[in-house]
Amino acid sequence: MAKSAYYITTAIDYTNAAPHIGHAYEKVLADVIARYHRHCGREVFFLTGVDQHGQKVQQTAARQGTEPLPHVKRITALFLDLWKQLDIAYDGWIETTDEHHKTVVRDLLQRLHDDGQIYKKCHRGHYSVRQEQFVTDRDRETDGSFGEQWGEVVEFEEDNYYFRLSDHVEWLRDYLERTGDVIFPGFRKADVLNALAASEGTDLCISRPKDRLDWGIELPFDPDYVTFVWFDALTNYISGAGYRRELHTDADLKLPDFDRLWPADAHVIGKDILVPAHAIYWMIMLHAAGFTDQQMPKFLVHGWWNIRGEKMSKTTGNIVDPVQLAQRYTTDGLRYYLMRDIVSGRDADFDESRLSMLYQTELANEVGNLLNRTLNMAGRYRGGVVTAATGFDDDLNASLRAAVESCQRAYHAHMEGHELHAALEQVRAVTGAANRFAEQAAPWKLAKDDTQAARLDSVLHHLAETLVHVAAWLQPFMPGSCGRMLDQLNAAALVPGLRDLVWGLLPDGHQLGKPDPLFPRLQLEDESAGA
Ligand code: ME8
Ligand code: MG
Repeated sequence: MAKSAYYITTAIDYTNAAPHIGHAYEKVLADVIARYHRHCGREVFFLTGVDQHGQKVQQTAARQGTEPLPHVKRITALFLDLWKQLDIAYDGWIETTDEHHKTVVRDLLQRLHDDGQIYKKCHRGHYSVRQEQFVTDRDRETDGSFGEQWGEVVEFEEDNYYFRLSDHVEWLRDYLERTGDVIFPGFRKADVLNALAASEGTDLCISRPKDRLDWGIELPFDPDYVTFVWFDALTNYISGAGYRRELHTDADLKLPDFDRLWPADAHVIGKDILVPAHAIYWMIMLHAAGFTDQQMPKFLVHGWWNIRGEKMSKTTGNIVDPVQLAQRYTTDGLRYYLMRDIVSGRDADFDESRLSMLYQTELANEVGNLLNRTLNMAGRYRGGVVTAATGFDDDLNASLRAAVESCQRAYHAHMEGHELHAALEQVRAVTGAANRFAEQAAPWKLAKDDTQAARLDSVLHHLAETLVHVAAWLQPFMPGSCGRMLDQLNAAALVPGLRDLVWGLLPDGHQLGKPDPLFPRLQLEDESAGA
């Protein structure tokens, strides 16, 4: 059962409201990583999907006078449109209402129940009628009352099913303490260990009686209950990756080979759902289900995009619509911004003026113009033919080659370490060097002097060769633009696996293509209004 494929998966998005920029960020992040590994020549499986059950969905649908299923299907379509718009190339798609997902959830619950890991218990306590949930002493105000948000709070008792979380807390603490790279960034491990200490002795309620919540997956051992949140949603990571696919009877269902994929190399999730959901509940669910320590997944925990330092929220109305942004600044403009202006694991502030500025400077000017100038000059002076073997060399050439070689090393180190913004900085250093190189070598002057013919050839070759490298490195980030870039360089077929990029991809006599602006001038509303 040797692992041969890279498996990356993201949080499944909650389908109670339309997607926002945070959702877009998470998916682009995962997509860039998935594409990076594919371009390195690895087999990759990228799973994503949507979380469709739960009380909020049931309530929203009721308020809108519709059933839960059409409601979540409508929101799901918005997510699907966004992933298409953003060029998210996932391999697997899972919806928690999918029959095969429910089958895996029920099988898992039944096995844990048979194994004595799930038991029924009566809980007596304070219950908020408005919020339809139990409240605890931690929810009390300083004066001891329950705040207004809870509405009427009554004494209430209810039977539910519980999962023996507490039996495995010791194992998890020990596992985390002796294992180094389970959670990226590493500083988050302390949060997990603190939460573990606080959760000591408590089990996890996993059910709701159907008269309170019926929009969920029915328990296999008690039809009066549905499972609540955890087993329903978290299990997607294995059901969507082909876990126990022998259980499914649908012949059309195509699921991957779980043993090749598992364990997940990266569960890409936001910081709000690491503790307790993923790092505690999910790990313990897997352990209880018989997964060994070697079969534990890894987490890539990203930060949040805020708006002027504040959390995005529907109530304050500061939600940013990623579809509009992609239309205004192009898909790759938005993808670039989302990878460029945040450090993986940290928060960032969303700033549309930076998005606009970066498009114009770093993309249109630094990359687009370099390509345009190079192809134009090569076309004008040499009919677009690259002469690689000129015999001419100098320090200026050598320093551009050194910049490319140094990027090749640093780029991979950063990509493997999830430091995507730092990988982009490395590529920028190369485009900066190439733009300076063009200014200093001044091919337009060399072209006027026949004695400089060999040098002119070598300068054009160095620029074109550098651009092929730049396109290859940026391809995971901006697949559309870089695909066009490689087409214009007529070099798509000449690029090897990303790890094997070495100077000398363009053969002597290579014919370059025609330039066509990669990042056209933005047609912004405020501009046309001012004009
Ligand atoms: O949490 N910036 O769904 P969700 C960056 N269904 N990322 C953000 C963000 C922001 N402002 N806001 C949210 C759920 N996210 C559950 C998950 S998984 C088994 C169940 C991220 O739609 C968030 O951190 O609320 C999460 O990783 C993802 O978007 C989906 O959030
Ligand atoms: Mg959430």
